[in-house]
Amino acid sequence: MGRSEDGRLLLLEAPLALFPGEVVEAEVIWKARHGEGRVKRWITRDPRRIPADCPVAESCGGCDLWESGRHAQDLKHQMATDLLRRQLGEGVPWSWHPAPESARRHRIQLHWDGAALGYFRRHSHALVPVSTCPAAADALSSAIPRLLEALTGQALPFRPGRWELATGTPAGTVWATDEKTRTWTLEPDGWHRSTEPIRHRLGEATLLHEPGAFFQVSPPWAAEAFGGLLQSWDLKGDTLYDLYGGVGLFSALLGHRFRHRVLVENGETAVAWAQRNLEAAGLPSECLVADVAAWVPEGLGKTTDLILLDPPRAGLEPTLCDRLTTVGAGTLVLVGCDGAAFCRDVKRLSTAWNLDQLAVLDLFPLTSLVECVALMTKRP
Ligand SMILES: C[S@@+](CC[C@H](N)C(=O)[O-])C[C@H]1O[C@@H](n2cnc3c(N)ncnc32)[C@H](O)[C@@H]1O
Repeated sequence: MGRSEDGRLLLLEAPLALFPGEVVEAEVIWKARHGEGRVKRWITRDPRRIPADCPVAESCGGCDLWESGRHAQDLKHQMATDLLRRQLGEGVPWSWHPAPESARRHRIQLHWDGAALGYFRRHSHALVPVSTCPAAADALSSAIPRLLEALTGQALPFRPGRWELATGTPAGTVWATDEKTRTWTLEPDGWHRSTEPIRHRLGEATLLHEPGAFFQVSPPWAAEAFGGLLQSWDLKGDTLYDLYGGVGLFSALLGHRFRHRVLVENGETAVAWAQRNLEAAGLPSECLVADVAAWVPEGLGKTTDLILLDPPRAGLEPTLCDRLTTVGAGTLVLVGCDGAAFCRDVKRLSTAWNLDQLAVLDLFPLTSLVECVALMTKRP
């Protein structure tokens, strides 16, 4: 983030991180009040830069911070500080939760064009072939050449398309899922068709989900970060409304701290898994397939209840924010992986809710993305 000579805000994106004070050449599109640009060339480089540990770091669109090494955390902290100051104003306290060195992706999306397998180039659909991915769990990285071999040898469907490689927790078995959600697991002698769910053992909780479906990208670290945070906020009460609940991660993490659970999620298969996961954990719950904005009724809950919302990137619909200002529940937790959308929703909710706690978790190491979490209490 910088400023033009006339004071307009300038948001810059750089493939290999951007340290404050570096002089760069960038392509910028100026709008009325701000500019957005991409760094094309470094004129001066910060001495903290280190060579990237990934051979395709500059061209691949999957990571942004390779050359910042252990200083990535400082840069992300600075980015989060800028974002929160700009969106929520000065003086809002928040806590920063850096990722451990060990955090790796348990889910990666590759593209096969009929000849090569790789990631999309930054801002493009051109392929960057890869044979390894140091941002992914070792099991996934070493499965990339096995997937390529099977595609080239037509042991797997040869048609160009997207492939997802995923592993459970702890990482081990690798699942490959194609665009038609057909799934194979990798055995020593090659890929075998599979209908097995992916299993994550996360502390006390075990969560299963369908391959190809949403789950946290770095599940052990996400469970540790969210679990620690929710515990430190000492959340407990009568009913937990786990909205945009997926396969039940937050219900499982909060466990017996709530007497009842209602999980709402629009994916039918996810809801079926949530029901099974929570039952197996001894946490019987009402799991509903519904659109959250349509489902939340006027006056939902009572003061001893918690509404937890973990929407997709776009955040909450304005009509849902309005309805949330009139609910009966006394506590609300909002989770968001797009900082700007998250801050917009916090501001909308703050007409009826006090912002008590704010945390930023580095759930997406090597990228400029962060997960924001707010704890809000209803004003009487
Ligand atoms: C960011 S994920 C969070 C999932 C879960 N809380 C977790 O951490 O594993 C958002 C979830 O909301 C679901 N979803 C998206 N739009 C929805 C909607 N309008 N109503 C209900 N669920 C929705 C998605 O299927 C996805 O499972």
